[in-house]
Amino acid sequence: MEEDQSDMAQQTIHVALGTRSYDILVRRGLVSDLGEELTRLRRTGKVGVITDRNLAGHYLKPVMRVLKAAGFTVIPVILPPGERTKTLRSVAKVMDVLVDARFERSSTLLALGGGVIGDLTGFAAAIYQRGIPFVQVPTSLVAQVDSSVGGKTGVDHPKGKNLIGAFNQPQAVLIDPAMLHTLPRREWVAGLAEVIKYGVIADGSLFEYVEQHIESILALDDVAVANIVKRSCEIKSEVVSEDEREADRRRILNFGHTIGHALESLGGYKGLIHGEAVAIGMVYEADLARHLGYCSQDVVDRLRKLVEASGLPARLPEVSFHDLWSAMQQDKKVSAGTIYCVVPESIGTVRVVALDKQETRGWLTTLRRREPPIRRAVAGRRRVR
Ligand SMILES: NC(=O)c1ccc[n+]([C@@H]2O[C@H](COP(=O)([O-])OP(=O)(O)OC[C@H]3O[C@@H](n4cnc5c(N)ncnc54)[C@H](O)[C@@H]3O)[C@@H](O)[C@H]2O)c1
Ligand SMILES: [Zn+2]
Repeated sequence: MEEDQSDMAQQTIHVALGTRSYDILVRRGLVSDLGEELTRLRRTGKVGVITDRNLAGHYLKPVMRVLKAAGFTVIPVILPPGERTKTLRSVAKVMDVLVDARFERSSTLLALGGGVIGDLTGFAAAIYQRGIPFVQVPTSLVAQVDSSVGGKTGVDHPKGKNLIGAFNQPQAVLIDPAMLHTLPRREWVAGLAEVIKYGVIADGSLFEYVEQHIESILALDDVAVANIVKRSCEIKSEVVSEDEREADRRRILNFGHTIGHALESLGGYKGLIHGEAVAIGMVYEADLARHLGYCSQDVVDRLRKLVEASGLPARLPEVSFHDLWSAMQQDKKVSAGTIYCVVPESIGTVRVVALDKQETRGWLTTLRRREPPIRRAVAGRRRVR
């Protein structure tokens, strides 16, 4: 992987989507230049800064100051932090503010926050007056390497995550890796799971970079962090550019997510946070791939070692085959009852395969002989109810 050693250098990634193309900028200190960046994007007039209480405490004042200094009229909307905010009710709240402040088609929304704020703001921007421009300023690692890139926006429904939404591309994604310094540790480490995922699905040299620099990454070294953020954005945007609406290629982004989502839903979205579930999912999807003959034991070992070195969980909690299989079948990505799983062939290449129920059962049975289950986090479905 190409390394950039200077921590002030700006990295620009162009996301090629025809008329909806845009740039992702990665630069330490970028948050102080938001006024100039919006001006460069030819935005004028009103800017609605959508954020949550945690971010507002750290960044809202300085962000409002730089935007006002650049001549914008700034209207903040501060929502409670956390997934529970990702609802139509919050979108309605945002709509009320925009209507009251007389936002026009030419006004702009700015998402200042993690994936929750980014997804919600992108969706609000898609529907207010049938669409107004928006800019992403992602502040969590998950948002910087994953949710802010790709154009999937939306909110949750009480019956399921991300059930309501729209594809909507931003005008720009403005990433300041220095903002990660205030991110809670557990959230930061969980985001690394997605970075490791990009290495496995598309770039062995990114994986190797994380292996070799894990200590400086965990110490939040600015250069190392900027490098992994930039490379992850490149990979996601390459995949998305080839397949904006999730027909086929984009499915490789789900590596670790077939088992990961199942563990999340079995835990009632309470035990493991997303990146932790994905970390376990990656290790065991790789192990399943090895069982099915797609990859060598070495792939599984390297992956488990890196997941552990990152401080992410790497052991499958106690779960019955029945519970696991039915949870995997509820995933949105399942079509016509077939469960597709992304399996690694090597570190850096994957393929998508349909899972056979008997083979998967056989894998879990032999796995349990080798590795007795640990009791934690994930309860069986029946106990959750
Ligand atoms: N659109 C997509 O393609 C896509 C992809 C992946 C995830 N997502 C969505 O993203 C959401 C998860 O994103 P997330 O992990 O960023 O969650 P989040 O937005 O809830 O942020 C996690 C927590 O960290 C806090 N936080 C964020 N940045 C901070 C900072 N710099 N300093 C201090 N605190 C900070 C937030 O206030 C929150 O409490 C989920 O809703 C998921 O569905 C979407
Ligand atoms: Zn994910």
